[in-house]
Amino acid sequence: MSNNLLKGKRGIIFGALDENSIAWKVALKANEQGASFTLTNAPIALRMGAINQLAEQCGAEVIPADATSVEDLENLFTKSQEVLGGKLDFVLHSIGMSPNVRKNKEYGDLNYDWMLKTMDISAISFHKVMAVAEKQEAMNEWGSILALTYIAAQRTFPDYSDMAQAKAMLESIARSYGERFARLKKVRVNTISQSPTMTTAGSGVGGFDVFMDYAEKMSPLGNASAESCADYCISMFSDLTKMVTMQNLMHDGGFSSSGITQDIIDQMTK
Ligand code: NAI
Repeated sequence: MSNNLLKGKRGIIFGALDENSIAWKVALKANEQGASFTLTNAPIALRMGAINQLAEQCGAEVIPADATSVEDLENLFTKSQEVLGGKLDFVLHSIGMSPNVRKNKEYGDLNYDWMLKTMDISAISFHKVMAVAEKQEAMNEWGSILALTYIAAQRTFPDYSDMAQAKAMLESIARSYGERFARLKKVRVNTISQSPTMTTAGSGVGGFDVFMDYAEKMSPLGNASAESCADYCISMFSDLTKMVTMQNLMHDGGFSSSGITQDIIDQMTK
């Protein structure tokens, strides 16, 4: 289904690791809708090689960048503009990682060096991306910048650990930089708060199956899939959402507005 919603638009997509990645689905749909873009990921993730298959499918160049390195980001933005032939219209930040979660550290016994890494990779990198874009004057007016987040920024979910703090900071950066970028360049900045989704990052969180099952029952529409999240990203990159900025946009089948649902009542009274 192509309506050329992104025809003539140029962008950078961070975070496509394998075909389950949300960013992977965004890349396929952006290509379908007529966008041209570069793909990027941390050098260590690129070694898995899967991204080359996606790049081929989309006719996209892969440019390695550790999102915590300003130098890598500078190179990425410079090269992307060269390869794509002009300034950018959209950026997707689809990056998350916590060494504490990965190594099953208890929340009461966090390794603080790792916690700083969690913040740098999962939140501060978003600031770095936008600061580099601003300094290079890399964004076209009415461009759109998006990051993906999770409702653990507002509510506690055991096992989400320090990623909850990272997501809260990520959403805050979107608001603060959104104000600045709107004023300077009419660029919009938003976060999409996605349902739990079976990906490498998602399934790294302890008890993820239960998480997903509970969210499914607590969401009147059910969990939002990676596919539908990608659709939402495309609409946010299109000219149909020009006045939406500094928002944390819930994409969760109604989870965040539900107190209790009939499905949960049925389960509790079984
Ligand atoms: P994923 O594991 O496919 O994607 C995470 C990406 O972050 C990977 O491509 C990884 O290589 C990249 N990354 C890690 N460290 C990096 C670094 N230093 N520099 C550059 N890239 C780096 O998983 P998924 O689920 O597609 O994650 C994408 C985003 O969606 C993340 O922000 C995640 O927190 C968010 N999200 C995921 C949910 C889920 O349940 N899967 C729910 C809500 C939000």
